[in-house]
Amino acid sequence: MKLTPSHVDALRRQFPALARRHAGSPVVYLDGPAGTQVPQRVINAIADYLENRNANHGGLFATSRESDAMLDAAHRAVADLLGAEDPETIIFGPNMTTLTFALSRAIGRTWKPGDEVVVTRLDHDANVTPWVRAAEDAGATVRTVEVHRDDCTLDLDDLRSKLNARTRLVAVGCASNSVGTINPVRNICRWAHEVGAEVFLDAVHYVPHALVDVQDFGCDYLACSAYKFFGPHIGVLWGRRERLERLPAYKVRPAPDALPGRWMTGTQNHECIAGVLAAVEYLADVGRATTNHASLNRREALSHAYAAIAEYERALVQQLLTGLREIDGVTVYGITRDDRFAERMPTLSLTHTRHTASQLAQYLGEQGVFAWHGNYYALGLSEFLGREPEGMLRLGLVHYNTPEEVERVLTAMHEL
Ligand SMILES: Cc1ncc(COP(=O)(O)O)c(C=O)c1O
Repeated sequence: MKLTPSHVDALRRQFPALARRHAGSPVVYLDGPAGTQVPQRVINAIADYLENRNANHGGLFATSRESDAMLDAAHRAVADLLGAEDPETIIFGPNMTTLTFALSRAIGRTWKPGDEVVVTRLDHDANVTPWVRAAEDAGATVRTVEVHRDDCTLDLDDLRSKLNARTRLVAVGCASNSVGTINPVRNICRWAHEVGAEVFLDAVHYVPHALVDVQDFGCDYLACSAYKFFGPHIGVLWGRRERLERLPAYKVRPAPDALPGRWMTGTQNHECIAGVLAAVEYLADVGRATTNHASLNRREALSHAYAAIAEYERALVQQLLTGLREIDGVTVYGITRDDRFAERMPTLSLTHTRHTASQLAQYLGEQGVFAWHGNYYALGLSEFLGREPEGMLRLGLVHYNTPEEVERVLTAMHEL
């Protein structure tokens, strides 16, 4: 049930990028929140698609049929990943931001002046501006939920006080891509539904680390991005069937009215969808390997994988935070207490009294530790924390990182 060092070794060997060296040392990839590396099987699946079944959708010939079979399999795989019962409610698109704009434009057409939309200061801007723009178009009012400064959690009292009979939609992230806070999305969905509002969840930063269950969360829509969960650059949207069927999607006339086609505008990135299928299979195989049950069905296997990943990543982030506490001049934002690690992802942002975020990122980058600086588009939080325009340094761990890598980062920060 655990990810042991030998499991992690075996998993790491599947990622060709992890063999890269920089300045004489292996690269430490701490840029996962901006995009993870991919296992060889994802690369193979993309190449295999282009080599062997490259065709457009709906043709009456072999390559098109094989391509469509692959697409159906990918919809089923992502339905398993998200706990969705209906593969036709899985929509692929260019990325989370573009899909969210498409959805917000369509939902916004059902709003009217006086309606209210709730966004948060903690979220990535891709879950803020699409709703703000749609509200502007409809004459609806936007309300923004505040954040607790001390631990960068959402102010849930503030959130509840902003819900009322006029609220049409609450847009909130499952987890912060900046400071790692996990939001209590089940409660938020329940509170929103009590006043008759819908909930859109941004799960981009959640899926690399934890099991999504759209039924259990109780959300109405959820979006994520495969390039953050070991797949290629492509986005995913899920919505409740009755809503996706009813909403006035912007589509061309010959495109189907049925799901999922009415939301998958234009010709899709088939080769990347093949890559997503392989990424989900990779994650399921993590679960099969840790339990030694090759026959687990995909959803069960994913559930075991995420349990093992969460436990492993929690130990890594604890090691990182414990080490950072010893380093003079470093401030870590968000939840830092050991007894609250279940409320955070292994992603943290920090500042240093003597070095800017870009100096830190450059210094680490020269030593082969790849990490992001700036606001990572979590603009509202960066402004709230007074970190604009420089931002913070983000260290993002995923399950292919190791305790030795964390030690290297800590040593580099000590030597700074
Ligand atoms: C939490 C979060 N939401 C949304 C996005 C936007 O995703 P995409 O790049 O697929 O549009 C990101 C990307 O960094 C993110 O981290």
